[in-house]
Amino acid sequence: MSEKTFIIAIDGPAASGKGTISRRLAKELKFHHLDTGLTYRGVAKMLLDQNLPLDDVTLAEQAARELDLGTMDGNILSAHDIGNAASKVAVIPSVRKILVDAQRAFSAKTPGSVLDGRDIGTVVCPNADVKIYVTAKAETRAERRFKEAQSKGGTQSYDEVLTDIKARDERDSGRKDSPMRQADDAHLLDTSKMDIETAFTAAKALINAALNTK
Ligand code: C5P
Repeated sequence: MSEKTFIIAIDGPAASGKGTISRRLAKELKFHHLDTGLTYRGVAKMLLDQNLPLDDVTLAEQAARELDLGTMDGNILSAHDIGNAASKVAVIPSVRKILVDAQRAFSAKTPGSVLDGRDIGTVVCPNADVKIYVTAKAETRAERRFKEAQSKGGTQSYDEVLTDIKARDERDSGRKDSPMRQADDAHLLDTSKMDIETAFTAAKALINAALNTK
């Protein structure tokens, strides 16, 4: 008989706070954590590094098969250009299928896992024990990204960051396969007026309630 696992699905757009919340939840609960955005970023980076087109299905599939979840480097993959490129390879259904299989395998780890992305509650782990959709107004998210980039010496203006955020939201929620959306049974956490501490506390309360009823 297989051991019971507990799966936490966190979805939402870029800079909503979902990444920080997920990392902290996993750390506190001693669960495994997978930032599924890194898998799409990893595929995009392999193509970019070889100057290959991002819309070549065969090459993108090959990169997806070669991706090793264990060696993805969040620091390198967090680059702005890689994020945009990732949302382009993420529209290819066969690439999604390969990555989703790997993500599902990851979610089976004991004693539990936190997966964050765009389609975890709807497609990757529809039977997750608890689902949270973390969001915030595009302007608020752009402000966060802008400040973060500035502290690292970034040169993009606030308006450029906002335009990028809106374009990425549109591509992610408008694509045919697994668009970004709140699962019917997901809790909504709008962090527009929250700092990260308040957002984390709110998420933790939802998880604790689910853990207590398991
Ligand atoms: O979350 P992050 O910004 O790292 O994701 C990069 C891109 O990867 C997203 O804009 C989205 O297009 C894609 N993605 C996805 N499904 C996921 C996670 C990320 O399509 N579960």
